[in-house]
Amino acid sequence: VPAGRCVVAVDGPSGSGKSTVSRRLAASLTARYLDTGAMYRAITWAVLRSGVDLTDAQAVAKVAGEVDLRIGTDPTGYGVTADGVGVEAEIRGPEVTAAVSAVASVPAVRALLVARQRDMIAKAGRIVVEGRDIGSVVAPDADLKVYLTASAAARAARRSAEDASDVAATAADLARRDQIDSTRKADPLAQAPDAVVLDTTELGIDEVVAKLRALLAERNVA
Ligand code: DC
Repeated sequence: VPAGRCVVAVDGPSGSGKSTVSRRLAASLTARYLDTGAMYRAITWAVLRSGVDLTDAQAVAKVAGEVDLRIGTDPTGYGVTADGVGVEAEIRGPEVTAAVSAVASVPAVRALLVARQRDMIAKAGRIVVEGRDIGSVVAPDADLKVYLTASAAARAARRSAEDASDVAATAADLARRDQIDSTRKADPLAQAPDAVVLDTTELGIDEVVAKLRALLAERNVA
């Protein structure tokens, strides 16, 4: 392990607490933070704007290859732009959320983003990376792999508290996206065999972060 290097992969379904935990952990380690879901969302925003058919994988891949996507890695606030347009708010909206699983299931889109992500990780050195395939595909050599889970009810409750949406509708949407994300052929949501699994249903954020810090200390990487 090179001095100072610390790569943490955080995977899990939406509502598992990934984003909050990953950002807090990164800040506490003075590491960078990469939200790979935001990258898939920004590409999806560009695809929707282009008007191409979401089921046309070739057309979707073409838009993905042409868009100038930029994302910051500051855990306390990172910008996301697509072709120079700030898209932080739009990528959390219902249109993008409804379409992102389809775009993220296109192999050429994944290949493109996985390459970008590996590049960013190599440059950063100390970084917490969150997504669905980080421990399994993007950074199989991560110093720590975490797989966060939570009960379906807890996940839906967290998501609807975040965006003031209806809990039942959110639960249905999470179930639909989980199904697509975990059964797609290209890099499905997966628990790496060497990942530490943490169920966050009954755990507070501080407890989860403290547990991960302890695991890193045990491994002498933080
Ligand atoms: O974490 P999120 O909800 O922002 O992710 C948005 C979508 O992107 C989600 O439906 C799955 C997909 N995704 C992915 O396929 N691979 C990743 N590494 C991150 C996100």
